[in-house]
Amino acid sequence: MSVLRSLLFVPGNRANMLQKAMDSAPDAFIPDLEDSVPADEKTQARNVTASFLAQLAQVGPRVIPRVNSLDTGLLEEDLAAVVGPHIYGVSVGKISTPAHVAAVDGVLEKLEAKTGLQRGQIKLVPWIETALAIVKAYDICTASPRIVGVAFGAEDLTHDMGIERSEDDAEVAYSRNVMCVAARAAGVLALDTPYFGFRDPEGLKRNAQASRKIGFKGKFAIHPAQVDLINAAFSPSEAEVAHARRVVAAFEEAERQGRGSTSLDGQVVDVPVVKRARALLEVADSLR
Ligand code: COA
Ligand code: MG
Repeated sequence: MSVLRSLLFVPGNRANMLQKAMDSAPDAFIPDLEDSVPADEKTQARNVTASFLAQLAQVGPRVIPRVNSLDTGLLEEDLAAVVGPHIYGVSVGKISTPAHVAAVDGVLEKLEAKTGLQRGQIKLVPWIETALAIVKAYDICTASPRIVGVAFGAEDLTHDMGIERSEDDAEVAYSRNVMCVAARAAGVLALDTPYFGFRDPEGLKRNAQASRKIGFKGKFAIHPAQVDLINAAFSPSEAEVAHARRVVAAFEEAERQGRGSTSLDGQVVDVPVVKRARALLEVADSLR
């Protein structure tokens, strides 16, 4: 699985912000044509974003434009403007059923043929942000081999549910868990909704750590100042790496003595515990 810890949203109609984004180092740039762009600037955003894709791709992070959802009538033209050699994939809002994925898939297939890309080259990150999408989460995650991750959209989901957002995410806890389990079962990344308090680094840190704890592998950023904090929150800390090394060492020592389990600091170390420790060390190594 690829690494997508931080995904930086940039309003697609704002050339100055697209320029500014290139100074930061997220794992992906998400030029947005959807909800950060006012209705009367949709065409302009499409053109501005298209003109920046080559430059964004040069920087290093993957480029994954977010296009308008199927129900807007804008999706086909959005995709036609961004699909090409400079993007890794596209993200699509308000995907609620496998049929929605199939519809996007069909448009991408035509555009790949037209632009000389390999079939299936353009990856897909659907937004899971309606009650129906939560119910159908696993079927959506497995609806196309293009899907590399799914994005949890708390703002649209609470709108759909007719409920308010809160700082502790209690109202979306069930949905978050469902999506993380579905994503894992499908072998794709669970990516978390942005944290809107962009001047509250402590709040973001707590929020991102809580996300990682339940299985999210990354999180969207709405401001460049959030990128480093998100990268850190979704990377194993030095303390975690040191502890994992001790767990592995204790287990290997036990194995040499012909035992299948042992203890460390008063906690049992057995096969699943050492598997988790080794997996964490693998992630840490791959990020180095
Ligand atoms: N990408 C690139 N640059 C950004 C940025 C972003 N997401 N957010 C802010 N910046 C830039 C600003 O343009 C400003 O640049 P400047 O110094 O050249 O003027 C600099 O970073 C500092 O910005 P700041 O003054 O702290 O914030 P702001 O008031 O200009 O913008 C927001 C705050 C929330 C309006 C802005 O961050 C934003 O539009 N974010 C994206 C929202 C979004 O994409 N929503 C959809 C997903 S839910
Ligand atoms: Mg949304």
